[in-house]
Amino acid sequence: MWNLFKKLAVGFVIGGGLVAIANSQEVPFSFQLLFFIVSLIGAMMFALLDAQTLNTMSGGKSFLVVTVFWVFLITVCVAGASFLPQFEPDDEKAKIGKLLEKERKQSAQGKTEELIARAKALDQQVKALEDRLKGIGGGQAVATTQAPTAGEKPAAAGGGGASGDIMKVGEEQWQLQECYNCHKLRGEGGKKRGPELDNIGTLLTVEEIQQKIADPKSMMAEGYDKEFQKGIMPDKFKDLMDPKELLALATWLGSFKNTAVNTPKPIKKK
Ligand code: HEC
Repeated sequence: MWNLFKKLAVGFVIGGGLVAIANSQEVPFSFQLLFFIVSLIGAMMFALLDAQTLNTMSGGKSFLVVTVFWVFLITVCVAGASFLPQFEPDDEKAKIGKLLEKERKQSAQGKTEELIARAKALDQQVKALEDRLKGIGGGQAVATTQAPTAGEKPAAAGGGGASGDIMKVGEEQWQLQECYNCHKLRGEGGKKRGPELDNIGTLLTVEEIQQKIADPKSMMAEGYDKEFQKGIMPDKFKDLMDPKELLALATWLGSFKNTAVNTPKPIKKK
C-alpha cells in the first residue's frame, strides 16, 4: 500500500512539473489537464507492476476475467474522457464567427463608405453633364434660328414625340461612343483629329452616315489625309451599337445642316 502512495506521489510531482512547463508555454488548459492525467496513469501503471501476480487461469474463467478487465478498462477510459473538456464544433464555429464578424463589419463599413463616395462623385458628374447639355441645347436652338435652311426639318433640339426620342437616343450615342473625342460638333469636342460634322446633313443622307459609322473605310472625307491623320476613325462602332442606335445616331447627325461650317465632302471608296 505504501508503495502505491509512493508511486502516486511521483506521478503527482511529474504531472505538476508537466503542467508548470505547459503553463509557461501557454498551452491551453485542457492540454495541461491531459498531461497531468497521463502522468497519473503512468504512475498507476508502475504501481500495477508491483501488484501480486494472479494465479494462472484457464478455460471459461480466464475468458471471463479478461473480458471483465477490458470492459472495466474501456468504461474507465470512456467515462474519464467524458469528464475532460469536449470539442464542440458549434462552440468553435461560434468563436470563429465572433472573431470574423468584427472584421466583416469593419470591411463592410469601409465598402459602404467607398460606395457612398463613388455615388457622390457620380452624382456630381451627372450634374455637370446636365449643366453642359442644357448649355449645348440652348446654344443649338440659337444656332438653328439664326441659320434656318429652307424646306429642311429643324435640328435636334426640342423635336417632340417619336422623332424626339430617336434624336435623344442619337445624341446619347454621340456622347456614349465618344465621337466628340475626334469630331467637333456645335463648337464642342474635336482635338482636330476628325472633321467638324455640323454640315454633314447637307453632304450625306442618313443611310450614308450609317454606312460611314458602321464601316469607316467605306468613304473618306475629301482631302482628309492632308488635314487629318489617315484612316483613324475606329471600326468598332457597329459592334458597340445595335442597329436602332446606329440609325438614331445617323438620323441625329443628319439633322446637322449648318452650311456655315466647312465639313469636308465625303468620297465613296466602296
Ligand atoms: C479616333 C477618332 C475618331 C472617332 C472616335 C470617330 N471618328 Fe468619325 N472620323 C474620323 C476621321 C479622321 C474622319 C475623316 C477621315 C474619314 O473620313 O475617315 C472621320 C469621318 C467621319 C465622318 C465623315 C465626315 C466627312 O466629312 O467625310 C462621319 C459622318 C463620322 N466620322 C462620324 C463619326 C461618328 C458618328 C463617330 C462616333 C460613333 C465617329 N465618327 C468617331 C475620326 C474619328
